[in-house]
Amino acid sequence: MNLKNNYKNIITKVISKVALITLNRPEVLNALSKDLITDLNDALNIIEHDENLSVIVITGSSKAFAAGADIKEMISKSFIDLVNNDFIKPWEQISFCNKPTIAAVDGYALGGGCELAMMCDLLIANENTKFGQPEINLGVFPAAGGTQRLPKAIGKAKAMDMILTGRMMDAIEAEKLGLVSRILPSEGFIEKVLDIALDISEKSLPALQMAKDAINSSYENTLSQGIVYERRLFRSSFSLEDRKEGMKAFIDKRKAVFKNS
Ligand code: CAA
Repeated sequence: MNLKNNYKNIITKVISKVALITLNRPEVLNALSKDLITDLNDALNIIEHDENLSVIVITGSSKAFAAGADIKEMISKSFIDLVNNDFIKPWEQISFCNKPTIAAVDGYALGGGCELAMMCDLLIANENTKFGQPEINLGVFPAAGGTQRLPKAIGKAKAMDMILTGRMMDAIEAEKLGLVSRILPSEGFIEKVLDIALDISEKSLPALQMAKDAINSSYENTLSQGIVYERRLFRSSFSLEDRKEGMKAFIDKRKAVFKNS
């Protein structure tokens, strides 16, 4: 099935082997409503199964990547509503995506918006980006993985600071601490992110998938378990035609042409 372009809460675009998803609820700073997440997950499903697409970029507007969970949708929920329906669970789909994902973050990335960005493989920030986990100001705390991924990304001391005070962090501080992969200037921001995505999309998709799988396993495994897993995946990469092509192209002094096989 081809990627649809008639969603209500997101805009989709295909650029060569890259799928660009733009969160599109500007009137509420891309607050993550149930319908937005449903649209996002539908698009992710289609992209994952489309062998012509290799990389996914998620972005928002220049004012906000996303200002978090939709507070107006959340306000009437009770404890038992959350027991019966974990509304955050579907947000996690992107963290299980088997293709490389890039969050191109501009403006506010707050609460669930910051958490969604942290679920992506690369987090590229515009120089104007402001990150924050302000849930504490609402009488709750981050629960889309923020209490787990943020300390892993920036360390306990800074994660406590962010989550207990609810303060915002600019792109420079975020990059210094390791939350952000790169900071790019505002001018031509999304084009520059797409250049990075297009570059990645020219590499062997199975090799990219193995690499991201190995890195993600470092979250769950001890060092020695992780190294055993890495070595198994590395052995598997020697069954790829792309592995032969990549090494042969190096010897032939030409650019490799990968076929994702
Ligand atoms: N949910 C619903 N609506 C939101 C929203 C959100 N998270 N964030 C912004 N909006 C709406 C505002 O209510 C406003 O709508 P109206 O025009 O109808 O009043 C519109 O978007 C524009 O927002 P502001 O007028 O507030 O814009 P601003 O420039 O003055 O401030 C802001 C921008 C600092 C981001 C501010 O909007 C803000 O603090 N937003 C809330 C951020 C937040 O608390 N996020 C955490 C949500 S909880 C969460 O995510 C839970 C979780 O981890 C699972």
